[in-house]
Amino acid sequence: MKILMVCLGNICRSPLAHGVLAHMVKEKELGWEIDSAGTGNWHIGQCPDKRSVAVAKKYGVDISQQRARQFNERDFARYDHILVMDRQNLRDVVALAKTAEEKTKVKLFLEDGIVPDPYYDDNLFETVYQLVASRCEVLIEELKD
Ligand code: 4NP
Repeated sequence: MKILMVCLGNICRSPLAHGVLAHMVKEKELGWEIDSAGTGNWHIGQCPDKRSVAVAKKYGVDISQQRARQFNERDFARYDHILVMDRQNLRDVVALAKTAEEKTKVKLFLEDGIVPDPYYDDNLFETVYQLVASRCEVLIEELKD
């Protein structure tokens, strides 16, 4: 199973989703490949936002070694599931899909809502972490069999 988490900058939300899911996958010895990317190019090569690094560390997850990269068309072939954080991410990624099969790989990470962008609101990082952690637990159960 190969899963790609996508947000706008790949420094706040998707690094958390990537790190938390990878941590759970490792604990459960599932052997899945997890990565993340951003639709935008502003932060390529950068470490995750220090507020994301801090909230992950608080819960025992180390995301400090991640580096931001931009989503690209080859990711459609490489991943089974491309999970996006909000509706703009969904539009941006789907716009790059060339086939119906590619489009069907792209879904909202929270099936019935969005992960709010915490970039301009320090208080949202804890909220984002909790949303991500509870969804990842369920996601593993959904995709395991
Ligand atoms: P992310 O958050 O999409 O969760 O990584 C953001 C990071 C940077 C910017 C916006 C959102 N930015 O405008 O630079």
